[in-house]
Amino acid sequence: MQLRTFGERIVALAAIAVASAVIARAAVGAERDAAERPWMNTALSADERAKLLERAMTLEEKIGLLHGRVGTPFRGAPRPEGAIGSAGYIAGIPRLGVPALQESDAGLGVTNPGEVRPGDGATALPASLALAATWSPELAYKSGVVIGTEARGKGFNVMLAGGMNLARDPRNGRNFEYFGEDPLLAGTLAGEAVRGIQSQNVISTIKHFALNDQETGRLALDARIAEDALRESDLLAFELAIERGKPGSIMCAYNRVNGDYACGNDWLLNRVLKGDWKYPGWVMSDWGAVHDMDYALKGLDQESGEQIDSQVFFDEPLKRAVAAGAVPQARISDMVRRVLRSMFAVGVFDASDARGPIDFDAHARDVQQVAEQAIVVLRNERATLPLARTTKRIAVIGGYAERGVVSGGGSSQVFPVGGFAASVPLGGEGQFSFWRAISLHPSSPLRAIRGLLAEGSEVVFDDGRYPREAARLAATADVAIVFGIQWMSENFDAPDLTLPQGQDDLIRAVAAANPRTVVVLETGGPVLMPWLDKTAAVVAAWYSGQRGGQAIANVLFGVVEPGGRLAVTFPAAETQLPRPEIPGFGQREGVPVTVEYREGADVGYRDFARRAQKPTFPFGYGLSYTTFAYGGLEASGTNDLTVSFTATNTGARPGYAVPQIYLTAAPGRAERRLLGWDKALLAPGETKRFTLNVDPRLLARYSTAARGWQIAAGKYEVALGASAEEFVARTERELRARKLDP
Ligand code: BGC
Repeated sequence: MQLRTFGERIVALAAIAVASAVIARAAVGAERDAAERPWMNTALSADERAKLLERAMTLEEKIGLLHGRVGTPFRGAPRPEGAIGSAGYIAGIPRLGVPALQESDAGLGVTNPGEVRPGDGATALPASLALAATWSPELAYKSGVVIGTEARGKGFNVMLAGGMNLARDPRNGRNFEYFGEDPLLAGTLAGEAVRGIQSQNVISTIKHFALNDQETGRLALDARIAEDALRESDLLAFELAIERGKPGSIMCAYNRVNGDYACGNDWLLNRVLKGDWKYPGWVMSDWGAVHDMDYALKGLDQESGEQIDSQVFFDEPLKRAVAAGAVPQARISDMVRRVLRSMFAVGVFDASDARGPIDFDAHARDVQQVAEQAIVVLRNERATLPLARTTKRIAVIGGYAERGVVSGGGSSQVFPVGGFAASVPLGGEGQFSFWRAISLHPSSPLRAIRGLLAEGSEVVFDDGRYPREAARLAATADVAIVFGIQWMSENFDAPDLTLPQGQDDLIRAVAAANPRTVVVLETGGPVLMPWLDKTAAVVAAWYSGQRGGQAIANVLFGVVEPGGRLAVTFPAAETQLPRPEIPGFGQREGVPVTVEYREGADVGYRDFARRAQKPTFPFGYGLSYTTFAYGGLEASGTNDLTVSFTATNTGARPGYAVPQIYLTAAPGRAERRLLGWDKALLAPGETKRFTLNVDPRLLARYSTAARGWQIAAGKYEVALGASAEEFVARTERELRARKLDP
């Protein structure tokens, strides 16, 4: 480079001087760090670093790390100083270089509660139940990377993500935040999503530990279940997710588990999580879930959202307990080290203050792919789908399809890039002032459908308020696409499985007027379909997020191949459920409620199989625009079970095969358990062979007497199928007896 003028040379020299000074300072800084802050030595393990740092802290500083405030203005108090503004905030320790914990919800994107950060939108991901319906660990990881990148770009270093309670009740208001009814599917996908978030140096939780499987009465609910059944179901899901995702923190739930509150449950936290599973991270409470200081002895490490609790138990009361010897100093050290250990392990110290620009366009493309892969084609008579782009006249009806797609309510609701397309108030208020409104993410299916149609085709719209009017319009069209929507939210359950606000009548009327009626469901979970056989096609699109409208249009018109399979059973009636009524339904929050999970580990399809009930659509089900043949099933191994099989695309279009392997019989008992699956896009005529190694815990029973998993010697029957009900082949394998640690 030629430096022409004197001035330029001075500037260049000055720049060199500044650069050398920076380098010199950095070197001095590094030396000083090594001497004064040995925990900043990245060659040490996270545990060693945490131990060194914890030793350098005063009791006051330690206690400060163990309780946190709501991160927004709350009950008249301003936003805590230093908080970026979201669910929670815990001040750092500048003296020691400990960054503040900036915590935000949740698993569907970085939230902005009450728009505390004016106009700060984030990519709204599809519901986790939608992500589960992709059956794609890769897409789960990718979703996590989107969330982690945005969290970090906005300055958050803890995401309250990884919601993964099992869908024991299809009416649970938060099922859309979770990954369905099967421990293997939920654990695998939630684990991958968490791994994706943490790959961006942002800690993720997994929550709500455990059995927060209904919203009704959640603050007082006692969820009761036998230990062996719990270990084989909800706990197994958490165990698998923790192994895969290595979450920095676990959020304990509001409810009680077998009598004791989850956040003060010695058995759950000390014995199972930290004892049996050797979980090294920290347990944070849900917001308002701490009822006593002694939770510190029961395994809780940090009190969150402290203003919501009746007092800040983990501040003065904890200090007094330490002074009185009621809580040992060693336990305080352990609590603190667990927090610090996760911060080091995930890279929060080494990558602190990494705010930066976010590529929202790229993220929108990523989440559109998730939304597309999540859509489940439930019915497709006379090959109605995919629709032709040359269809002359299409009537689009209902569901606010002219505006956007439905999003679920509560703490996980993402204020999207570009803002909500509209919010339709429903009246009333929920706990913590959750707003009751159908808020639409800004991706209009109507606009997307219009955008795909050929020249000369037209789309007409009716808002669906009057079934007769909608039917009249439907009768004038070649195809009618009617949207059925169900808004669900944290803090509420649906009383039953019907589509609300008379939409069944609307769909019935439209289907009667037009035999080529396609129903698009945007729901938080399963619904009943009393009009099913009158329709030509039905797809479940869930809450589909930032680009949901485009995803729906792309699947309907075959721009992309549908790849979704149900992660929850769609019952034919509430009477098929283990509890036809939700326990405590209609009761005021705070009134004690008990739920007895008598179905035990047989959640969802397993209970349907055991009681020989026929659902409308089984777990694992979903159509494709091509056809597949599954076969060549073989099982091998005597200790570990390995299963292999083939899938062939027998149709004329490419398509996603999702072959599934189930355990159907074990020595002395009939069973129905998902053992594994794979997913592949196959070209017409293409055959692929798959091999799965089965996790032994899926074959075992948990024995409380023997304290561990036991595989009985004998024959195990496995079946290959396209859902939990359609099996095309079965084989048997003799396994040796085996015992595994809990
Ligand atoms: C929810 C949690 C959430 C927390 C913080 C609670 O109401 O149950 O899932 O992370 O609030 O917003």
